[in-house]
Amino acid sequence: MFQVNENYLKLPGSYLFSTIAKKVKSYTEANPHRKVIRLGIGDVTQPLAPAIIKAMHEAVDEMGDVRTFHGYAPDLGYGFLREEIAKKDYQERGCAIEADEIFISDGAKSDCGNIQEIFAADSRIAVCDPVYPVYVDSNVMAGRTGEYDEAKGIWSNVIYMPCTAENHFVPELPEERPDLIYLCVPNNPTGTTLNREQLKLWVDYANETGAVILYDAAYEAYIREEDVPHSIFEIPGARTCAIEFRSFSKNAGFTGVRLGFTVIPKDLKSSNAAVHSLWARRHGTKFNGAPYIVQKAAMAVYSDEGKAQLKEQVAYYMSNAELIYEGLKEAGYQVYGGVNAPYIWLKTPGDMTSWEFFDWLLESANVVGTPGSGFGPSGEGYFRLTAFGTRENTMEAMERIRNLKA
Ligand code: MLT
Repeated sequence: MFQVNENYLKLPGSYLFSTIAKKVKSYTEANPHRKVIRLGIGDVTQPLAPAIIKAMHEAVDEMGDVRTFHGYAPDLGYGFLREEIAKKDYQERGCAIEADEIFISDGAKSDCGNIQEIFAADSRIAVCDPVYPVYVDSNVMAGRTGEYDEAKGIWSNVIYMPCTAENHFVPELPEERPDLIYLCVPNNPTGTTLNREQLKLWVDYANETGAVILYDAAYEAYIREEDVPHSIFEIPGARTCAIEFRSFSKNAGFTGVRLGFTVIPKDLKSSNAAVHSLWARRHGTKFNGAPYIVQKAAMAVYSDEGKAQLKEQVAYYMSNAELIYEGLKEAGYQVYGGVNAPYIWLKTPGDMTSWEFFDWLLESANVVGTPGSGFGPSGEGYFRLTAFGTRENTMEAMERIRNLKA
């Protein structure tokens, strides 16, 4: 009889956002007349910017003409997009990143989940707690995380770096030595960032200890403060210790279009191999390239017209963040995040657990958020709201929350 990968059997329950979707579905089926406002998963609501739609239309027309038709895309991405990214996202910010160090993919989630494959099976991973669940779950699937302690919500072979109000949600260097360090900055879910000095500490630590930083910068477009780096490659020394993940989902609304990229400097080497060539090998074997139409659409993200339109879109979501932040404060909550990130992280009132607050908010205000404990044990007692809703829904949700008594 065939056997399944037993590591999958260790995964507790379903993926966080699938669990939430199921709960909301059963609530809406039982209460069809209630208008539920979804501020749970960080999914965008604004349409694609006109410059992107125009580029997409043009690419669609090219696909309909035998002279300009495109079949398989190059597996690592079209040169035109890799060049543009290297120039506009990196070189213009003073980062020494070349086009052939950019790997185009169908999104940062896949890359964050897949990257662990190219590292040794016995690598120790360190994650912030709370954490974007993909980092941990993908390592569970690979058999790297040991045993799950259900009562504590932790894995025996994962180094957790608690991020709570006490340390301003900033991870501290771990006592145990990790091989792979996952950092998400600006952070999902807490909305916190690292300034230049704080990030330099991590780069120096990784170089000294021989660790790799897996740096998820999916929310980079939301950075508003001056001293916050947009890329880890702004920090000297990062080329020998870091990989960066970027997404077009949050800066350009591509959650349903799918596109992202990973930056692996050629200087990132272990004692026996260059990581760059391993990822190229993996990508070439398991990925057939992101669609031409989508990569052409992404070019518009870097045009003057596209940049101006997307700046407005990001500002729209950040106004929502402000509305949520201020509204919650007014309602008496302790609130964090929302300044350099589209996520607002709040303390649940009294001694309500995160899931109790989820149920209470869904039932009494018909508002959906994300329970902090779903991101890890240090998220217990916290709750995440996203700024990616429409303005109308965000305002209505805040009105409902303000009118509640916990
Ligand atoms: C989230 O809500 O945390 C994000 O939407 C997840 C993602 O980007 O995959």
